[in-house]
Amino acid sequence: MHRNVKSRYFKQHKVWILLVSLVIGLLGGAFLLVSLMNVIEMALLCKNNSLEASSLTGEELLLNAIRHYATTKVVPQQSFIEISITFEVLRSLGRPANFLVFGLGHDSLMWTSLNPRGTTLFLEEDPQWVQTILKNAPYLNAHMVKYRTKLSEANELIKSYLTDQECFTKNNLILRGNTKCKLALDMLPNEVYDKEWDLIMIDAPRGYFPEAPGRMAAIFSAAVMARNRRSSGVTHVFLHDVDRPVENTWGDLILCKKYLVKSVGRLWHFEIPPSSKMSNNFC
Ligand SMILES: C[S@@+](CC[C@H](N)C(=O)[O-])C[C@H]1O[C@@H](n2cnc3c(N)ncnc32)[C@H](O)[C@@H]1O
Repeated sequence: MHRNVKSRYFKQHKVWILLVSLVIGLLGGAFLLVSLMNVIEMALLCKNNSLEASSLTGEELLLNAIRHYATTKVVPQQSFIEISITFEVLRSLGRPANFLVFGLGHDSLMWTSLNPRGTTLFLEEDPQWVQTILKNAPYLNAHMVKYRTKLSEANELIKSYLTDQECFTKNNLILRGNTKCKLALDMLPNEVYDKEWDLIMIDAPRGYFPEAPGRMAAIFSAAVMARNRRSSGVTHVFLHDVDRPVENTWGDLILCKKYLVKSVGRLWHFEIPPSSKMSNNFC
């Protein structure tokens, strides 16, 4: 009798040990799985995609784009005449271009395909949106970007323009590592700083609610890149949504009205020369 009670006690004890081990094992497994998923997501968002546009031939890119746009109901936000401005500039260069685009979207496959042998690189703030767009076109070349501004700060920031020594010292316009000027995109991959961009499209980040980053830093950083150009020729900067106050004012003052060469629909096209050819004023 005494031995039976003892053996039942040990059996129950064993069952408990098994149950606890099972729960610990399951929790450990779940933890490992979540960690692994985070590592994969980070790798995906940091370099975003292992298969870049350059690994497809121009013809393959075009075929993909035709199939996509022939079957999708969701089209880019820019109109035909707005898109045609950038299209003509890409064609007129007569060579593969370096094309930097602020924001991923339904137009990304189009921009990449219109520059088939060049470099088209996207800067996107929203990690979920990166995944949505790259799911259908993993060969797009995209990097994450963090903005330090809010749309609600736009008026304050523009009031201090020219007097703000951290951002507007004419002879020392720097983006890389410029933590003091929050208009400067200071943490981009080296590739973005080291390349000379022939075209820059500003159609992001979001700028339609107070907490959104607004386009101020994108506009400022594009202006700095254009001014720091060392190669011959101008930088073509395209700014969309100029019917909105921030895009209108910042385009006028930072990209400089005098470099505006075309205005079509809600798009402005600037041709900005390197800063050595500029006067003492910012514009
Ligand atoms: C005004 S959208 C422009 C997108 C692109 N130019 C186009 O025509 O599709 C700019 C930003 O909105 C954000 N966004 C988030 N969800 C979006 C959605 N469903 N459609 C478009 N943009 C979205 C992204 O961060 C994107 O960079």
